[in-house]
Amino acid sequence: MTNLRNKKIIVVGGSSGIGFGVAAAALENGAQVVIAGRSDEKLQAAQKRLAGAGRVTGIAAHMANEADVARLFGAVGAFDHLVATAGTPPPNYPIGETDMDFVRGFVDSKLIGAVMLAKHAVRSLNKGGSMIFTSGINKDRPPVPGGSVVSAVAGSFTYFARALALELAPTRVNIVSPGWVDTEMWDEIVGEAKSGYFEQMGARLPAGKIAKPADIAPAYLYLMQNEFMTGETIHIDGGQRLV
Ligand SMILES: NC(=O)c1ccc[n+]([C@@H]2O[C@H](COP(=O)([O-])OP(=O)(O)OC[C@H]3O[C@@H](n4cnc5c(N)ncnc54)[C@H](OP(=O)(O)O)[C@@H]3O)[C@@H](O)[C@H]2O)c1
Repeated sequence: MTNLRNKKIIVVGGSSGIGFGVAAAALENGAQVVIAGRSDEKLQAAQKRLAGAGRVTGIAAHMANEADVARLFGAVGAFDHLVATAGTPPPNYPIGETDMDFVRGFVDSKLIGAVMLAKHAVRSLNKGGSMIFTSGINKDRPPVPGGSVVSAVAGSFTYFARALALELAPTRVNIVSPGWVDTEMWDEIVGEAKSGYFEQMGARLPAGKIAKPADIAPAYLYLMQNEFMTGETIHIDGGQRLV
């Protein structure tokens, strides 16, 4: 396992939720961290909370905007690991009521955005580095109705990583697929109903609770540090795929 001390890590989605947890864990391990997201305000608030002794910076960028993505990597220069956790609430329409503009926006941001990040990251990723993208439990346990698009997009990441791992070798490319995680995204999706959802699901899960971002972050750190892991999807879901 390699040491993350002084390694430069970009976390796209690092101003909130799972990405914030990865940024915090990477800082604890001595890394230099760049967090990116669309909102400058959220980035500044996250930087304050992370308090990385000067080792964290924030850069505003929309991952589906190629000029933004090029500017992000241009500003960072050479770096060691890319982590992409960015995402927005998925479409949840029954298929017959699909809002195509919403679906296009979701796919554009999550999947096309990942392609764009990989395209630009590869130019300045140091030897021995890696890319990690984020999938999720919705591909294994699709919400019914309305889960088809998110399931297809999340599922595609496994194959994206397998192909890229071959193309970019020895640069490593991997995926983390979390189960439900208690993040700001849930406040946006279900609001005050969140605690009820989490109580019910927590009781069903073999792990007996819903994950916090700090429970998920070690999977990303492991993939950065283990030089033998590539083309792989790590499921970290408290046993959610079993129930
Ligand atoms: N939470 C869960 O239960 C769970 C489970 C499985 C998978 N996932 C997946 O994990 C990912 C992260 O989820 P989360 O719960 O951590 O969400 P979150 O708390 O809402 O955080 C999302 C982060 O992504 C950034 N972001 C969103 N769209 C972006 C874009 N187009 N360009 C750049 N940054 C963008 C947000 O900042 P701005 O808003 O400022 O851009 C924020 O920093 C999502 O793709 C989600 O589907 C989540």
